[in-house]
Amino acid sequence: MSIRIDHETGLITLHTLHTSYQMWADGQGVVHHLYYGPAIGGSDLRGLEFYSDCGFSPQPAGMDRQRDYSLDTLCQEYTGSGVGDYRIGCLRLAGPDGSRAADLRFVSAEAVPGKYTLPGLPAACAEDDTCETLRLKLRDAVHGLTVTLLYGVFARADVITRAALLENEGNGPIRLDKAASACLDLPFGPWELIHFHGRHCMERQPERVPLSHNIQTLRSARGASSHQHNPFAILAAPHTTEEAGECLGAMLVWSGNFKIECEVSQMQSTRLVAGVSDDDFSWTLEPGGQFAAPEVLFCYSDQGLSELSARYHRFLQRHIIRSPWRDKPRPVLINNWEATYMDFDAQRIWDIARQARDLGVEMLVLDDGWFGERSDDSSGLGDWQFNEKKLGCTFDQLIGRVREMGLLFGLWIEPEMVCTNTALYAAHPDWALTIPGRAPATGRSQLVLDLGRPEVVDYLYSLFHRLLAEHDIAYIKWDMNRNLTDVYSRVLPPERQGEAAYRYMLGLYSLLDRLTRDFPQVLFEGCAGGGGRFDAGMLCYCPQIWCSDDTDAIHRIKIQYGTSFGYPPCTMGSHVSASPNHQTGRSTPLSTRAVVAMAGTFGYELDLQKLTDAEKEMVKVQIAQYKQLQPLLLEGRCERLTDAVTDTCFTAWQFTAPDRSRAAVSVVVIDPQANPWPIHVRLRGLDPQALYHESLTERVYTGAALCHAGLTLPILQGDFPAVQIMIERTESL
Ligand code: DGJ
Repeated sequence: MSIRIDHETGLITLHTLHTSYQMWADGQGVVHHLYYGPAIGGSDLRGLEFYSDCGFSPQPAGMDRQRDYSLDTLCQEYTGSGVGDYRIGCLRLAGPDGSRAADLRFVSAEAVPGKYTLPGLPAACAEDDTCETLRLKLRDAVHGLTVTLLYGVFARADVITRAALLENEGNGPIRLDKAASACLDLPFGPWELIHFHGRHCMERQPERVPLSHNIQTLRSARGASSHQHNPFAILAAPHTTEEAGECLGAMLVWSGNFKIECEVSQMQSTRLVAGVSDDDFSWTLEPGGQFAAPEVLFCYSDQGLSELSARYHRFLQRHIIRSPWRDKPRPVLINNWEATYMDFDAQRIWDIARQARDLGVEMLVLDDGWFGERSDDSSGLGDWQFNEKKLGCTFDQLIGRVREMGLLFGLWIEPEMVCTNTALYAAHPDWALTIPGRAPATGRSQLVLDLGRPEVVDYLYSLFHRLLAEHDIAYIKWDMNRNLTDVYSRVLPPERQGEAAYRYMLGLYSLLDRLTRDFPQVLFEGCAGGGGRFDAGMLCYCPQIWCSDDTDAIHRIKIQYGTSFGYPPCTMGSHVSASPNHQTGRSTPLSTRAVVAMAGTFGYELDLQKLTDAEKEMVKVQIAQYKQLQPLLLEGRCERLTDAVTDTCFTAWQFTAPDRSRAAVSVVVIDPQANPWPIHVRLRGLDPQALYHESLTERVYTGAALCHAGLTLPILQGDFPAVQIMIERTESL
């Protein structure tokens, strides 16, 4: 039993294999948070709560004389609003009478087998008995607002998911201005915040800052989770490293506007509140209406950041990604984008495909520019007819020749957008998000379709369903190349416009859900101008996501490093592109570009015909190497052996098989030294007793030696050299 509810005392404890989470519904019906951390067995931690005169923090109604009891100082599971807790809150609302308060009190708690689902939203799933759900119901008696806190306890995975369902059981409308998914009040600290910021072409850069008594906010108001902030945060104890110390993560299963806020309180407790962003948000709950606040995945490790990442990676692989592709080797692909951009015809594509096939590539992906009037990025989106004139053949002829070569065929689409010079826009100008009387802002000359409208989603569904049903397409790259502005839906009344961005996400999820269910065999890769929507929400539908539009290997090391804190390598789309690189102009060896791309779902994105014969031979070898490595990416553990952001000389990472029989260590030199000092790496997670052969010097060491003494690399000079060392368990010295 992973959920223990003591109905007499009100104590509720959630147990996973290595962690415990405890809360308590007191006699007033206030649900206190008591603990989240390493397993504590059957202990009752109420004795750790601290009560003293609360000073300027008010007492709840009816508790006038109890000056040591205030909602402002207690650690809580979810907060009301306007009743005396002045920290960041979970709720902001207006009741039917315009009053803004909500006093949430305990109604019931029940444990049910299996995993809860959320209406319209992606969420972790458990196909077997790996999860138990706690349903904890709170209620504000005046408005009749109930908040059901949902906890999914994945005992073996050491993850606790949380979400909230808000329902109006009263008689009048309630306007929600904020409805967070979860609040986590950690009674004791201190904690540091690790978050992942960035920009287009440099996503998910880790930054570690102390938490303080001001509010720190990670947010996106862009209508997508964004390049700038990722909906994932880690709280780490100050001395926590990769290998030791306490840390916990909060990851939203949500791809739209979000907020993760942290604050250290006057009592030195730390509050983290996560959910849909309240910026420009409101939602009217009519009597009987319901609002689902998206899921947050909480995970705790007392063995450092590496273990935290490993737990997230396993969890996302098993309980978030649903595609049958999740455990399967992904085809090595050639994408024509950086080879041709939009300047191609069928012959050019076939030439690229043939060359790629001869080198061992398994799939050709036709990127942007194959449809409508689209010779550059100023037109065409929305008119999804294959452009026979430009290509010089029919769609099926194009695909047929690629298939005859023995390659799978993949296709780029950007369903959520429309250009104004298209037939789609001419027929349905009101389908775009625009504000009456205002010229809309554009991004890449395109507007965003209002996916909050069911008829728009239905239209896109039948269009792309037909595309996939009628043509031999094995892979889809689902792109999104601008953020939302002018968020106004022509079908919502003025007072409900605050719902448009959330409804957009419901529409997107429903579209993705329908198409991925209809075509489970199709491999979907998410993309938003690179990694502008790299999150657990999208991973529910797309087992891999294009990590960044920056394909420069040296930048990619940093981007993939930051991404790996939360997301497994097998979800990161990563390609070998041309040198000099198109984004940075930097030249790197082909071998280095391949070593870096092999830390994700591997492919090529360059004109292979321009390679020398020697380079072509290298490509053949790289593909064979990747095939050997791929099982480690899909099932193994990923270790960040160096800090790719701060280490200036070299960077290294390792993949290890679950049974520790094999590992691969990659090292890339960023800054070769004159009169060099040795490059030395210590490996991790090998069986200390076992003997391992390492491919660098062909020597045999114990796992203990490789992990404690490590390996010294030969002198690596030149521009960005790299090595990949295979470690294999062996029987003899
Ligand atoms: C942005 C993507 O990230 C690129 O890889 C490419 O598909 C372009 N869009 C095409 O417009």
